[in-house]
Amino acid sequence: MLLIRGGTVVTAETSQRADVLCDDARRIVAVGPDLESPSGCDILDTGGLLVMPGGIDPHTHMEMPFMGSVASEDFYTGTCAGVAGGTTTIIDFVIPEPGHSLLDAWKDWRSKAEKAVSDYSFHVAVTHWDEKVHEDMGTLTRECGVNSFKHFMAYKNALMVDDDVLLRSISRALELGALCNIHAENGDAVAYLQADLLKRGMTGPQAHPLSRPPSVEGEAAQRVIAIAGLLGAPIYIVHVSTEEATAAIAAARARGQRVYGEVLAQHLVIDDSVYADPDWLGAAQHVMSPPFRPKHHQKALWAGLASGQLQTTATDHCCFCAGQKEQGRNDFTKIPNGTPGIEDRMSVLWHHGVLTGKLTPQEFVAITSTNTAKIFNIHPRKGSVSVGADADLVLWDPQASRTVSAKTHHQNVDYNIYEGMTLTGLARYTISGGKVVWADNDLRVTRGAGQYVERPCFSPDMQAAIHRKTTS
Ligand code: URP
Ligand code: ZN
Ligand code: ZN
Repeated sequence: MLLIRGGTVVTAETSQRADVLCDDARRIVAVGPDLESPSGCDILDTGGLLVMPGGIDPHTHMEMPFMGSVASEDFYTGTCAGVAGGTTTIIDFVIPEPGHSLLDAWKDWRSKAEKAVSDYSFHVAVTHWDEKVHEDMGTLTRECGVNSFKHFMAYKNALMVDDDVLLRSISRALELGALCNIHAENGDAVAYLQADLLKRGMTGPQAHPLSRPPSVEGEAAQRVIAIAGLLGAPIYIVHVSTEEATAAIAAARARGQRVYGEVLAQHLVIDDSVYADPDWLGAAQHVMSPPFRPKHHQKALWAGLASGQLQTTATDHCCFCAGQKEQGRNDFTKIPNGTPGIEDRMSVLWHHGVLTGKLTPQEFVAITSTNTAKIFNIHPRKGSVSVGADADLVLWDPQASRTVSAKTHHQNVDYNIYEGMTLTGLARYTISGGKVVWADNDLRVTRGAGQYVERPCFSPDMQAAIHRKTTS
């Protein structure tokens, strides 16, 4: 057993002095002041640290095959980096190749993830449509603990699905009580702009943001919101990066539609000036989709999070080393898209959010953990500090600082997009399943200790949407 003593427990709702007792079955068994320590119990004296639910990153891509490469971070190294930054659960993406079985791909990802050191779960992507997809969605929701399906409106001739697939898949997911995730960018527009830029001789990474301007995201967000509205289905839009998409989500919510928006930590603090880097690799390392945006979009994203119109933060952790980015040296459309960040998300949010007064500590907990647990129907097991919840905790030092560097990070990638940034607020201890896995810069993980988290369908929000549909 483990007794965490002398901390201030911060949840999405409250902040109070309390001890936390974790048993050997990975659960929290008591929360309160001055708890007795059972005999033989390990004691962790926090010295006044904040005790918060472990971070949940709802958007990662460990060892993902993508654009002719495979992401360098695997489930072992990626979850190590996660716990070093206070993240104790990830929701990664199973991505079947178009035409392939969703169920087989899920099995494949399950075996890849067995080496994870902390808990993990999966969204499953729908990359084409046929009867087998319809059937597999049923099997995945009923037998495999999957309650969310992903759709890419971009990546033409690869992962992209058209409106017909969106309609069929969102409708099928609703029937099953599952939530659809959407990468909202107009893939036809991107392909057209890419071809045009290349024809005009613009082959470098500077062309990447020009091929995916904000309106490309705004249009797709509006379109998928309209499609989901027709069906009466809730949707979750991943990596919202623009004022336009934020406004589309806020407008839909004001009409009573259940639309959720996720923000990446990197989009909150890094802008499109990175593409002006004269060093090809420096710019290529920032090639991700949606791209980094002009600074004024950041204001809308922060406001969206603070107002609750956007609910979660993620990383879209998708690592490609220099040699992999190099494959697009002569053609920016071939640079594998993706940036790292799982280790730094919580610190970036604390430093740039809480310490600037944009967020309260409770809002920090909500957007780094609790809201994700609620939306993906694993609350209060995850995202809470309460009796019966999983003993996944971060002991947060709100005053300590560190300077981010690829030389010292735990991510299996040769750069860090926050290189040189000094951040105040860090994970001093991380507890996963009742075990200390990170203690004052020391990783104490066990390969394979992470468990697969099954997520049931028919979350309360989904039930309400279905009830509304049947009564309207
Ligand atoms: O650039 C990105 N985001 N790479 C990962 C795939 C995706 O679109 O989420
Ligand atoms: Zn995406
Ligand atoms: Zn992604």
